[in-house]
Amino acid sequence: MFHPGNAWLDMDGAPIQAHGGGILHHENTYYWFGENKDGPTKIMPNNLHRIDAIGVSCYSSTNLYDWHHHGVVLPAVQDDPDHDLHTSRVIERPKVLYHAPSQRFVMWMHVDNAVYSYARVGVAIAEQPTGPYRYLHSLRPFGYDSRDMTVFQDDDGRAYLIFSMQHNHTLMIGQLSDDYLNTQGASVSQFVGQYREAPAVFKHAGRYYMVTSGCTGWDPNEARWAVADTMLGEWALRGNPCRGPQAELTFGAQSTFVLPLHNSPFPFLFMADRWQPLSLSESRYVWLPLYFKENEMVIPWQEAWQWQPAAQPLLSIG
Ligand code: DGJ
Repeated sequence: MFHPGNAWLDMDGAPIQAHGGGILHHENTYYWFGENKDGPTKIMPNNLHRIDAIGVSCYSSTNLYDWHHHGVVLPAVQDDPDHDLHTSRVIERPKVLYHAPSQRFVMWMHVDNAVYSYARVGVAIAEQPTGPYRYLHSLRPFGYDSRDMTVFQDDDGRAYLIFSMQHNHTLMIGQLSDDYLNTQGASVSQFVGQYREAPAVFKHAGRYYMVTSGCTGWDPNEARWAVADTMLGEWALRGNPCRGPQAELTFGAQSTFVLPLHNSPFPFLFMADRWQPLSLSESRYVWLPLYFKENEMVIPWQEAWQWQPAAQPLLSIG
């Protein structure tokens, strides 16, 4: 079962370190990528709480409960202070896409300096989902600053970068190049002046959906959902999809990814991070069902739940 917010150990008995993460479903296996934050939290002069960058962890599972650790598949760089991935910097929100034409795995991530003024996206590639990943470059997508971000791959193979830009004032959605290694082509600005971050994007019944958070650092705030007919169309910002205790604070967590669930009574898995600013390594994972009821997105709180068809469903979709 999932126990949202509880400590979660991998198959070796170690706490899972995959914060701000995302999942790639590839050849019947789930690969969970996220920030390894297994170090001491430092409080900087400007009251920013950080952990020196360690890199991106990868875990694999066939059931989404039991996770095998494949180590740090994109490690931070120790010896070059000017490198995007130097330990003094920030590597956040890694997401991996499979690029079928080249049979390569492409990782996109937020790379930054310790005070978040570098504000770029980094790209790395691998031949296997479990890496090792080779860092290629960072870029300012469409010429803009970029902080919280995610990527989304559509059914037609077209992929998109979704990122908070202009100091989080606006969210931008733009196309990736055919090889997924750059941004290229059309882009649109959305939620202008709304200060949304932590985007998680998915498709349902031919339409596009997003969950975002507000911008309050490591502290939780209210999630909102949004919908569009096309990725580059007009996105309508709607209400809070969360239901239950602390729904107004996303159950003390912040969105990071939405995974389609196959053969499940629940169409989607909502993944969020319950950050612990004083001890970031102990931040927890809040994974909950996500579904639609009368065209409204719903994320209900659950103390414990199962996603697979069970003899006796723990939660019914009304
Ligand atoms: C909120 C973002 O969503 C996180 O990924 C991280 O960048 C924190 N801010 C840092 O304060």
